[in-house]
Amino acid sequence: MNPRLRIVPDAAPAAALTVAVISGKGGVGKTNIAVNLAACLRGRGLDTALVDLDMGLANADVLLGAAPECDLRDVLARRRALDEAIVLAAGGVRFATAALGATGPAANAIERARMIELLARVPGEVLLLDCAAGIDVNVMAFAQQADVVLVVTTPEPTAITDAYAAVKTLFCGGYDGSVRVLVNMVETRAEAREVCERLRKVCENFLDKAIADAGYVLHDTHVELAVRQRRPFAIQYPRCSASICAAAVAARLVGGRAARRTAPNFLRRVAGMFA
Ligand SMILES: Nc1ncnc2c1ncn2[C@@H]1O[C@H](COP(=O)(O)OP(=O)(O)OP(=O)(O)O)[C@@H](O)[C@H]1O
Ligand SMILES: [Mg+2]
Repeated sequence: MNPRLRIVPDAAPAAALTVAVISGKGGVGKTNIAVNLAACLRGRGLDTALVDLDMGLANADVLLGAAPECDLRDVLARRRALDEAIVLAAGGVRFATAALGATGPAANAIERARMIELLARVPGEVLLLDCAAGIDVNVMAFAQQADVVLVVTTPEPTAITDAYAAVKTLFCGGYDGSVRVLVNMVETRAEAREVCERLRKVCENFLDKAIADAGYVLHDTHVELAVRQRRPFAIQYPRCSASICAAAVAARLVGGRAARRTAPNFLRRVAGMFA
């Protein structure tokens, strides 16, 4: 039996693949990556949902040109239904925000658990979670639920150090899914490879854990242009270098083993929380 059905009997089928986007350091491009990966996956014909889980400074709605009237906290408070909080955004991506405006982080473990339960009810074949910067308990709790954790870094040493801290915290919390590194804002593919390789070796040597290469996104001025236009660059400028990179990352994300999973960790873990 689908464990999710035990928890929410009236729910639509849950996402087959849940991907959390985290980084450690802020401003490395998580939201841009999450939004554009969602657009690329939708462009590949996958029913894709994106949830902005940055509960302090949510802004994926800005990049998508979307204006949800309510958020998932309204749903938890039973002020709104889940389908009222999910809007159809650019390119046909389903989109919801955990907490619109500066409403502060989730208060406690109970609210986090309820939010996770709610995320399991968001329909779609792929669910992308745009997490906040940092490695606090909220970010890690959400990331722990995902089949794939995409750790975004840039070639800056500070970003790499914080990405490692995020990976370490994740593994120390018992994460057993797939961790993949995406190097953003690189000048060349070789630069991305070098950063990824460095992180991979450190994880192997100090954590005895394997992490994978998710790909890279080149530094591209079209990204900022698209942000100003409140449209995903992958839709607005599909042939720019950042879009070509994002499409390759999306293809790799669903082309591997994770895409064929039928019993997502997300649901098993949610079920476990209530067992
Ligand atoms: N590949 C890229 N090329 C050029 N600029 C980029 C690229 N990726 C992101 N940026 C720029 O980097 C800035 C930060 O991006 P974004 O808001 O997506 O980061 P973030 O990690 O989500 O930030 P936060 O930690 O605050 O949530 C934006 O100004 C964006 O335009
Ligand atoms: Mg962000």
